[in-house]
Amino acid sequence: MTDPVASTLAYHARTKHQLDRYAAGPGTLDWDAQPDAFRHWRDTHVTPLPREVMARHVLWPQLDQARPAHAFTPETLGSLLRLCAGITAWKQYGPSRWSLRAHPSSGNLHPTETWLIAAAVPGLENGLHHYQPRDHSLERRAWNDLTEPGVWLGYSSIPWREAWKYGERAFRYCQLDLGHVLAALAYAAALHGWHPRLLPLAPNQVAAGLGLDRAGDFADVEAEEGEVIVNLQADAAPPPNWNHWAGQPSRLDPKPMYAWPVIGEVAEASRGPLPETSPMANSAAKHVASSSTRHATETILLRRSAQAFDGKSVMPLEVFRRLLAALLPGGSPVWRLWPGVPRVHPVLMVHRVEGLKPGLYALPRAEIAGAALKQAMPEMFAWTPSDPELPLHLLLAAKAENTARTLSCHQDIASHSAVTFLFIAEFAAPIQANPAAWRHLHWEAGMLGHCLGLEAEAAGWRGTGIGCFFDDAVHEVLGLGDTQYQVVYHFAVGIPIDDPRLTTLPAYS
Ligand SMILES: Cc1cc2nc3c(=O)[nH]c(=O)nc-3n(C[C@H](O)[C@H](O)[C@H](O)COP(=O)(O)O)c2cc1C
Repeated sequence: MTDPVASTLAYHARTKHQLDRYAAGPGTLDWDAQPDAFRHWRDTHVTPLPREVMARHVLWPQLDQARPAHAFTPETLGSLLRLCAGITAWKQYGPSRWSLRAHPSSGNLHPTETWLIAAAVPGLENGLHHYQPRDHSLERRAWNDLTEPGVWLGYSSIPWREAWKYGERAFRYCQLDLGHVLAALAYAAALHGWHPRLLPLAPNQVAAGLGLDRAGDFADVEAEEGEVIVNLQADAAPPPNWNHWAGQPSRLDPKPMYAWPVIGEVAEASRGPLPETSPMANSAAKHVASSSTRHATETILLRRSAQAFDGKSVMPLEVFRRLLAALLPGGSPVWRLWPGVPRVHPVLMVHRVEGLKPGLYALPRAEIAGAALKQAMPEMFAWTPSDPELPLHLLLAAKAENTARTLSCHQDIASHSAVTFLFIAEFAAPIQANPAAWRHLHWEAGMLGHCLGLEAEAAGWRGTGIGCFFDDAVHEVLGLGDTQYQVVYHFAVGIPIDDPRLTTLPAYS
């Protein structure tokens, strides 16, 4: 067997986009043959979930305070699933129609599948259920005679959904998407007064728990990769074992035109344990109050990615500071869910923020990490403290719009934004210690992006994830010469320009 550390690092290196060549991907795309966004489990017992969303009166800033816990019922779990994984709208343009969900997804391809494990929830059948977002229902995949009550959510990825369009780089997108999904869960759970906890299971154990290792069932369909199981009760109890199984998964792409074996290799190489719980993960936040007057459910359900920004709006300083505070430990419900020490640090390209010089800034998310990053970066960066409370440092004053656009695969969203974030991960050392850290760094970056997206939405701004960037060109601009640090994601925030040609239809009729 090849060395998992070497395989993981090699995958990352070969899936970089370079200024003169993109990572290996399909030469042609048949849009009519896009893999099905919804996997169905045939021959399963289907339970429709209540569609009502709870806690509609709660304002976005009220999510900063602990909320009373709802009981687990079909109504509350239906509400949770709508707010973290459900469809939020259908969009139509000419003959094309596509759905959007509570979390963004690279290429809107949605590789993540959600599972609900319910034991002794009054009104719900015991068992492992596949969540079917298309009609907000549960497909029961397994069961047994359970006695101990509990509720868990499980997550898996179907890499082919992304690989169909993005080729070898696709596994990165699966992991970034999963970060968004986990963050979406953290916010929705906070609204219901729940304290979810990631179970310390490796992907192989997750796969066994979700039945993804039942090879016979997957013989003719696309594989699902186990990712993580979350206990909704804040304790570490694992989900039950099953002795009855049912159902057959649907095939998503009847005629795949390409194969990307390196994705299977990196999936296998990065199947390790979650990080240890860090005391820092729960450290006190530098609180920056939100002046949003929006409701939390409205913020979540109306979240969208901007397809274009206006290129001129100046972000008020209070909005900017709230965005930054949400990224710091304790600044968002997400950091109560994520157990690891902060290893991903934003470098900001500030274009238009009230009272701030345009330029390059750093926001190290832990003090010790800031010192290490400073040492790794060139001496010409000033590291001038730029906020009385937040660890924001000006590295270099400069107009960086063209650079931001070029680094982000020439996309205008990176230059027409008010600010574009580059997420820089502590890279080689954590991966050498545990190759699964490669997945977790991408999750952490996706979580950071999700905090920005929701905080922006609450403040009347909007975000867009940017998975397409020229990796080593970013490193060159930041003077990061080796693999101690690597960029893993970009995220832009600005005032959106909406496309009037699109019609919006309700999520569920
Ligand atoms: C990991 C990730 C990478 C993305 N990369 C890009 C990108 O490079 N360019 C872009 O315009 N949108 C990008 N997006 C935004 C998606 O296109 C968008 O989330 C998707 O179309 C669904 O729309 P919604 O977010 O409004 O629900 C990305 C989203 C994610 C989560």
